[in-house]
Amino acid sequence: MRTSKLGSFQVSALGLGCMSMSHGYGTPDNLESAQALHRALDLGYTLLDTAALYGFGANESLIGGTLRERRGEYVLASKCGMFRNAEGKRAIDGRPEILKRTCDEALQRLRTDAIDLYYLHRVDRRVPVEESIGALAEMVHAGKVKTIGLSEVSVETLRRAHGIHPITALQSEYSLWSRNAEIGALAACKELGIAFVAFSPLGRGFLAGAVRNSSELAEKDIRRNLPRFQGGNFAKNLALLDGFGAIAGELHCTMAQLALAWVLAQGEHIIPIPGTCHMRYVEENACAVDVALGADTLHRLDALINQRTVAGARYDAATQQEIGTEEFLAAA
Ligand SMILES: NC(=O)c1ccc[n+]([C@@H]2O[C@H](COP(=O)([O-])OP(=O)(O)OC[C@H]3O[C@@H](n4cnc5c(N)ncnc54)[C@H](OP(=O)(O)O)[C@@H]3O)[C@@H](O)[C@H]2O)c1
Repeated sequence: MRTSKLGSFQVSALGLGCMSMSHGYGTPDNLESAQALHRALDLGYTLLDTAALYGFGANESLIGGTLRERRGEYVLASKCGMFRNAEGKRAIDGRPEILKRTCDEALQRLRTDAIDLYYLHRVDRRVPVEESIGALAEMVHAGKVKTIGLSEVSVETLRRAHGIHPITALQSEYSLWSRNAEIGALAACKELGIAFVAFSPLGRGFLAGAVRNSSELAEKDIRRNLPRFQGGNFAKNLALLDGFGAIAGELHCTMAQLALAWVLAQGEHIIPIPGTCHMRYVEENACAVDVALGADTLHRLDALINQRTVAGARYDAATQQEIGTEEFLAAA
């Protein structure tokens, strides 16, 4: 697979998001996930993305255990600052001592001496970002982490953090249906030499055509709480997929490949990390790097699916409070 620059690393143009192997979208199968991980490395994916949050440590353990013999073949990215609290619930905590403890636990789970790219998963509004980034910088100096990143922060926060310690990557949502990064983050990353890692580049499966009936999502699937997957919003969004599928048909590619090719076409500093726990999707998505989109196709896609044509905000109101990114208003 062709490669992209991620700070001092050269990684595959597409990374592999590992979240759904342990978290978020239904009931994953560890054996199938392990096969998907091995297949990804065999195909040339060299960037794996995980977090302490995913499965509350289970995802890091899965990667560490499955790929312990292949650690030299991939750049390992994980995240701290969001995990399970004493009550067993998801919580954000950016205090330096908590981040350092999370890192130490992650190194055990990942069975590695150092994490290549360690992100602050969310900025804790009670802790100045300088303090949290200071803790990550100390991890770099201690050799536990090689480089650091941030997730879902505003351009202002990104610049502040970059002033404390060089930031290698900003990881935020970006896809045809989540264009918020276009307000300023993509340009700021380009200016500062920071890679933009695009999470949920398939619109959490929607743009791949994987969700046709949101009422069939598993009871604990987190997409049930996302406005775009709910009621009238979902019906309106579904109507956009016919035109999208038609364009994919013209190009003889799948909708997932088209969605990924669009993200790849938005800038050389952008690295999409499609998530899957299935080997067949790992294979299908890898071929997206070979889908070339001409100016006319890019224009048609832009006009079809964008922040004005998509119905519903990307997060519910409570989760929206946790993030700092610049947001387009959701279409009604
Ligand atoms: N920093 C953050 O706050 C944050 C937030 C969310 C995600 N992430 C990271 O970004 C990664 C990707 O995001 P995501 O998983 O939320 O969303 P995504 O990549 O947009 O979509 C993932 C969904 O699409 C399905 N899928 C993947 N390839 C497919 C294909 N070719 N055809 C049909 N369906 C396909 C997956 O199914 P299966 O899982 O069933 O295979 C999964 O349900 C995550 O794994 C995680 O590492 C980070």
